[in-house]
Amino acid sequence: MEDYESDNGRMLFAGVYASDIAEEFGTPVYVTDEKKLRENYRRIHGVFAKEMDTVVNYACKANSNLAILRILEEEGSHIDAVSVGEVESCLKAGFTADRILYTGVNVSNEELKAVSELDVMINIDSESELERLAEINPGHKISIRINPGVGSGHSDAVITGKRGTKFGIPSERAIDVYARANDLGFDIRGIHAHIGSGGSDIYPFMDAAEILSELTNEIKDIGVDLEFIDIGGGFGVPYKMNEDPMSLEELAIEVTDIIKMQTDVETLYIEPGRYIVADTTVLLTKCVNIKDLGTKKFVGVDAGMNNLVRPAMYGSHHHVAIADKFGKACTAKYDVVGPICETGDYLAHDRVLPNPAEGDIVVVYTAGAYGFSMSSNYNMRPQCREVLVNDGKAELIRDVQPMEDLWKHQIVPERLRK
Ligand code: LLP
Repeated sequence: MEDYESDNGRMLFAGVYASDIAEEFGTPVYVTDEKKLRENYRRIHGVFAKEMDTVVNYACKANSNLAILRILEEEGSHIDAVSVGEVESCLKAGFTADRILYTGVNVSNEELKAVSELDVMINIDSESELERLAEINPGHKISIRINPGVGSGHSDAVITGKRGTKFGIPSERAIDVYARANDLGFDIRGIHAHIGSGGSDIYPFMDAAEILSELTNEIKDIGVDLEFIDIGGGFGVPYKMNEDPMSLEELAIEVTDIIKMQTDVETLYIEPGRYIVADTTVLLTKCVNIKDLGTKKFVGVDAGMNNLVRPAMYGSHHHVAIADKFGKACTAKYDVVGPICETGDYLAHDRVLPNPAEGDIVVVYTAGAYGFSMSSNYNMRPQCREVLVNDGKAELIRDVQPMEDLWKHQIVPERLRK
């Protein structure tokens, strides 16, 4: 991973001083570089499309801000959505229903009805879901999610393709389920597997492509021709300074070779979330409190696990720096901790930093994927602002949440009112 440029010790984010953005919009604030977002989309689409006709379904769970969705809609992306809320957000952002694939897990009849009425293709996760959809909307366009028994991911909590997880239909049941879907009269378009998130090794993706290719041929033998093979998302990105990116080119060549050599399917679907948005965005937070316990030093900041839960939830590493102390000598090791009343509320452990002081702007890197989208109102803290930088100009794309929002849907029974 490469560091940002700086000018006289001041970090530049997409040509703008990071601390100026913090000053103008307040902290904590997520800041996204539009140019980088467009480049990431074009790179991943280009690398795969060079080998085979490829549809990129951006996994919008990673970041579903409407401005981000608008940019990706302009770029020609399609969508992987996991809820009616995501489907509706993408429709609102201008995606047409035929550019959205819905992949839910433990889907209720209400959700199946809502999604199918929006005319969005449904990626079936279980045999029960298939039977229930046949009652609700027979003949709907579908794909089927297979659990290939191959997993990958940065943490056990995000490995989905292994046996024993709640996702998909085990590969040994696949042929029966496709036959059943055919008997039920569904419009069957594809086959899907998502093995997990944030893996950097290309072999599990190749194994999954092998399994999906073999199944595609067996499915053809029972009279169902598939239009696409969907290998899911999960392509890892570097979070540490000395980490190299995974070789997307190699991955694209290997996976498409397997599919082209073994099947006559012409279209590949991929579902990157993290790859497209992770490194487009930083979280800017202000140091509000320095605490030195002798044995331990803390940089207390105004962003916590309510804003970015990944370090607390998965032990994830996010690089941190001080915006206006670039290139300054590091003085000691610190934990960067937030305002949430939990010991586990940290953004970074044991980081050497250049003499942090109250008022400094701390930059949390690679925060664009599963950053804002997993944020919460824990401790009754409003969700923070989001800003988009383009052509040297910073624009607000989400305002800070008013406290009123946090109370709006709560009801105090009449008898308890004061
Ligand atoms: N497709 C499906 C069916 C998925 O479930 C996911 C992610 C993706 C695509 C996109 O995966 P990506 O390319 O972003 O790795 N909150 C965790 C990640 C959870 C991923 C859930 N599913 C984190 O912060 O690392």
